[in-house]
Amino acid sequence: MMRVMCVFGTRPEAIKMAPVVQALRRRPQQVELITCSTGQHREMLRQVLELFEIVPDIDLDLMQAEQTPTQVASRVLDGLDRVFRRHALDWLLLQGDTTTAMASAIAAHHARIRVGHVEAGLRSGDRWNPFPEETNRLIVDHVSELCFAPTERARLNLLKEAIPEHVIRVTGNTVVDALMQVARKEWIPDPGMGLAQLPTEGTLILVTAHRRESHGKPLVRICQALQQIAQRGAGRIQLVYPVHPNPNIRQPVYRMLGGVPGVTLVPPVDYLTLVNLMKRSKLILTDSGGIQEEAPTLGTPVLILRDVTERPEAVEAGVAQLVGTDVERIVSATFRLLDDPRAYDAMARSVNPFGDGQAAERIVTAMLES
Ligand code: UD1
Repeated sequence: MMRVMCVFGTRPEAIKMAPVVQALRRRPQQVELITCSTGQHREMLRQVLELFEIVPDIDLDLMQAEQTPTQVASRVLDGLDRVFRRHALDWLLLQGDTTTAMASAIAAHHARIRVGHVEAGLRSGDRWNPFPEETNRLIVDHVSELCFAPTERARLNLLKEAIPEHVIRVTGNTVVDALMQVARKEWIPDPGMGLAQLPTEGTLILVTAHRRESHGKPLVRICQALQQIAQRGAGRIQLVYPVHPNPNIRQPVYRMLGGVPGVTLVPPVDYLTLVNLMKRSKLILTDSGGIQEEAPTLGTPVLILRDVTERPEAVEAGVAQLVGTDVERIVSATFRLLDDPRAYDAMARSVNPFGDGQAAERIVTAMLES
């Protein structure tokens, strides 16, 4: 019997860890599973856990307003240190590049618990973009005993850093497992959120932006671009922007875009709603990593509001494009796709560079065999 803990703290980690939790639950003879939430996020995490029917066995509940990554890290280190004294674990599985993932990996390493990293080997090559996620990934991969690389490119990134071949497994990204599951569910728009009135086809544009490196001027430029898109597309374009609760995002976004005709600002939406908005959108403007992986499966083109990406597979497949945060570039790239059907059709293809929906099974099998 292996004792395995899955840890997560933010919304994207929970989405991508959920299929792994489900796959572990399917093996009650071999695995004793403990789920642990650090609670780095509160409301946004709760929405995802409900959708996937996960009730954490342990909840450190450490979110505080205006937290810095260092404060989060120190509370995760301290909290998990106590947890690891109570539970003798064989493996700690963690996901991605958040502060939760980085601090959990260090805490497990200190406790001599084997670490398995779900979504290993992503690299932008620039430690300030995304910040601090790029550094978090490096740290996690280098303390992991098993690196679950979603793609061949991720595997090569790890080999370049002298991570031994036998540590790496190419599994696909669990986000595709999660997406396929959720895309099958029926969605009824929450009448309180203003989403029921959105157009059913054509010119819906989904926007998300919350990255730490976008805080400040880049976010102001993104909002200016959205104002221009709404103005030029008046009467035919509807922008919908679920706004992250971080005050560094919420305040400027509501100040610049609140009440602008053609722009619907909504609080963070649950994952089922997000998947349906992605499906119904003509186009997505985002700085999110996860959406870059999900949209290609759904066949919705993505303009990436960043200068670099650690997920170049979608750009190479021709279904996503890097546009940065320059106002003119965002506006012209948007209207090029809306006004030129050939350019649009070339990008609106359903491809799966990130996985086939079986990643979680591969991850659990690899862990049990090692
Ligand atoms: C974190 C991750 C980022 C991920 C993002 C997903 C790190 C370094 N970054 O960034 O990789 O893409 O989560 O959202 O871990 N807040 C709430 N309620 C919530 C969640 C957040 O009020 O449910 C507010 C709090 O004021 C909090 C702030 O948002 O202090 C920022 O949250 P934090 O976890 O520090 O970083 P994110 O910017 O969300």
